[in-house]
Amino acid sequence: MRTGITHLYVPGPTNVPERVRQAMNVPMQEMRAHADGAMTTTQPLVDGLKRVFQQRRGRMFVVPGSPTAAWEAAVTNTLDPGDKVLTARHGEFSRRWVELAAKHGLEVEVVDAPWGDAVPVQELARRLEADREGRIKAVFVTHNETATGVTSPVPAMREVLDELDHSALLFVDGTSSIGAIDFRMEAWGVDLAVCGSQQGFMMPAGLAMLAAGDRAMAASQRTRGRPAHFDFAEMARLNDDGALPYAPPTTLFRGLEAALDLLFAEGLDQVFARHRRLAEGVRRGVRAWGLETVARDPRFQSNTVTAVRVPPEVDAREVVRIADDRYRTSFGAGLGPLDGKAFRIAHLGDLNEVMCLSALAAAEIALKEAGCRIQLGAGVGAAQSWFQANGTAEDMLRAVA
Ligand SMILES: Cc1ncc(COP(=O)(O)O)c(C=O)c1O
Repeated sequence: MRTGITHLYVPGPTNVPERVRQAMNVPMQEMRAHADGAMTTTQPLVDGLKRVFQQRRGRMFVVPGSPTAAWEAAVTNTLDPGDKVLTARHGEFSRRWVELAAKHGLEVEVVDAPWGDAVPVQELARRLEADREGRIKAVFVTHNETATGVTSPVPAMREVLDELDHSALLFVDGTSSIGAIDFRMEAWGVDLAVCGSQQGFMMPAGLAMLAAGDRAMAASQRTRGRPAHFDFAEMARLNDDGALPYAPPTTLFRGLEAALDLLFAEGLDQVFARHRRLAEGVRRGVRAWGLETVARDPRFQSNTVTAVRVPPEVDAREVVRIADDRYRTSFGAGLGPLDGKAFRIAHLGDLNEVMCLSALAAAEIALKEAGCRIQLGAGVGAAQSWFQANGTAEDMLRAVA
């Protein structure tokens, strides 16, 4: 018999706030019937999501599914088999996009970079420059590589495209960044961005969001094929009436409505500042253990997930297992080549300082029991000192402003 709560530090699903859970506890409703109290249009959700993505023009689609579904919709609506795309592979999720694109018959030019590095923008620039015939139709960027805890500079990619006057579309995977780390669809010249409900939006898995700018929408009108399920044209046509081309997941929509309310009540800048502050506390804890993060360059360390490299004599799978079995605490496992070599502490969504301290406390004891020579309490102490000496997230925001 296990007592107390389970502590969740995986990068999706994240903790669902009580208000969001309660909002989803509603009887089933027919959106089109205008029943009493029913949510009869998706428009407020679309408007709210656009605010979070910092997008005014173009389309916001919210669909039942996960980021993979949104990515598949992106690729099948805007590109044709045989089209060439350029991307970096520097972690498990960027690797999966390569696979997905190849499955849809795209010619993928891949730039491999060490897992733990950011997108190698200069190398992508070189490839774009060499593309004299303009065969590259899109560049894919994983904003926050959830497998390694690395946030890449999307604006730098846009600068390269503009400097070279290259017409390739810029597609961004914002799954573990949007809603927690600043993301600016329009200011950064992003043509298409995807994410899911189970990370920054503090919801269960089940919804995918896809923002398509004007250029991506125009590309979708030129493609030869049309997906049956997530057809941009069909979704746009029905969305104009606040409807969807399929059964609307009304419970999830209720949750999303509440989650957006929470994000706006806190204020987006405040949400981003809180994530910066919490992430720094966790990183200081990791450093105090004498361990390293997988992210190599401090400029690109993620404010939503920290991947911790364990010493060679320690099996990171054991750390995750012990934390779960003995301490009711869930951490993310090391993925792909990081399996056994790293574990991940997610610090995003509905989270505060003490929850981060609990994560460090559980990780310390699990590391120690897995054979890692660390000083118990060192990480917790370092994070406490950081939180204590650096005011609140509100203070931090004021300092930046
Ligand atoms: C950056 C990134 N992209 C895509 C995905 C895929 O999400 P899903 O497997 O839920 O479709 C994830 C999952 O965590 C992710 O972190």
